[in-house]
Amino acid sequence: MKLEPEQESVLRSESGKAPSLAMKTLVEYGKSFGAARLVPIKSGHLAGTFGVFLYRAYYHILQQLVAEGVKVKVLTTSNPRPGHDFNLVNRLAMSGQKRLDGYLDALGVTPNYSCVCYEDANVPGLGDKLAWAESSAVQFANSVLGSRTNRNSILIDVCSAVTGLTPEFGYLLDENRRGRLLVKLKVNRMDASALGYIIGQKAVNRVPVIEHYEFNRIELKNMGGAMAAAGGVALFHIEGITPESPDLKSVFDGEPEDTITITQDDLDALRTKRPDDAAIVVFGCPQMTYDETVELAERFAGKSVNRPTHFYLIPEAKKRFLATDLCRKVIEAGVRVLDHCPLAGLMVRRESKKVLTPSGKCYYYLPGTDYGSVDDCLRTCGVMP
Ligand code: F3S
Repeated sequence: MKLEPEQESVLRSESGKAPSLAMKTLVEYGKSFGAARLVPIKSGHLAGTFGVFLYRAYYHILQQLVAEGVKVKVLTTSNPRPGHDFNLVNRLAMSGQKRLDGYLDALGVTPNYSCVCYEDANVPGLGDKLAWAESSAVQFANSVLGSRTNRNSILIDVCSAVTGLTPEFGYLLDENRRGRLLVKLKVNRMDASALGYIIGQKAVNRVPVIEHYEFNRIELKNMGGAMAAAGGVALFHIEGITPESPDLKSVFDGEPEDTITITQDDLDALRTKRPDDAAIVVFGCPQMTYDETVELAERFAGKSVNRPTHFYLIPEAKKRFLATDLCRKVIEAGVRVLDHCPLAGLMVRRESKKVLTPSGKCYYYLPGTDYGSVDDCLRTCGVMP
C-alpha cells in the first residue's frame, strides 16, 4: 500500500505509540482487501457502545489512546447505549458502561448515542467518504445519502476515527456500487421492513436495485436496517429514488446478473400466525425518529395497552417527544418511552422468546422473536381492533 509521508510518520510512532498501532491496523486491514491507499474521511461512527463487563481488551485499547491524549480527527458519533440502567441484570452485565462512556468522551466522540446518527448528529453528503460501523447506518449513508463507507467493525471504526483515514476498497469505489440484482415488486400492502428482510436473505452481499416505489424516509431506514441484518448488504438502490439510480439503465452495467420478484405472499409469510403469544411488543430498531414516533403515538392516544409495549427513540427525538402532550397520552396508555438499543436490553433480560416486533433487524437478532407488521403489533397490544 502506498502511504503519504505524514501517514508514514504516524506509522513510525512519531505521533505516539497508540496512533501508530491504529495506523498499522488500518494498513493491514486495507492490504487484506487489496486497498492501494488510505483516504481521508469526512466522519466516523462507532458501534462499540455497549459497556459489557467482559470487553476488557476493548477497554484496554481505548485506555491506551486516552492515556496518550489522542482525540478523534473527524466528527465521530456513537451508537445507542444498551439499556445499562434498565434493570438490575443489565446494570451488572453492563457494568463497564461508565468506564466506556468516559473513554469515548475523552476521545472527543459525540455522545448522540443513536444508530440513526444521520438524522441530525452526523449528516454526510453525496460522495463523502466515511468510516462508519453499524450496518443500518452504513446502509442508509451509502444508499439514501449517496455517501461511501464500508461495513467496518468495532475497533476498525476507532482506528479510522483517530487517524481520519480509511483504506480505499469496497463501497468506496465506483465499480462496487453498481447494481447486480434487480428486484421486482408485486405488492399491494407495502411492509418495507419485511421487504428489506427478504431482500437481505436473497441478495446476500450483492447490490440490489428495487424497481420504482415511493418509499418514505422512515421506510427507507427500516427497510435498510432489516436488509443489512438478514444479509451482508451495505448498499441498495431504488429506481428513480436513490441518488445513484436515476433509472435502471444507469445503475446496471448492461443486464442485471439476476432478477427476483417479491410478492405480497412473500411479505405476509414473514408475519407470525400467533401474534397473541407475545408478552411484550417492541417498536424502534433502528431507533425511531421524532416524526415516526408522532405518527405511531397517535394510534395509542386515548387507548390502553394490554401488555408491555416499548418505544425506542433516538435520544434527541425522545427529549423532544417528552415535551409534547401526545407523549403524556402515550405514557398514560401504558407505553414505555426509551432511548437505548432494544436488542441488548431485552436479550439480557431473557424476554426474547416473548417479543413481537415490526423491526426486521430486531427480529433477526433477538432469538425467538416473532415478526409482525405494524398493524399486527398494534392489534396485539390492544390499540387497534
Ligand atoms: Fe440500532 Fe440497536 Fe437496532 S443499534 S439498529 S436499535 S439493534
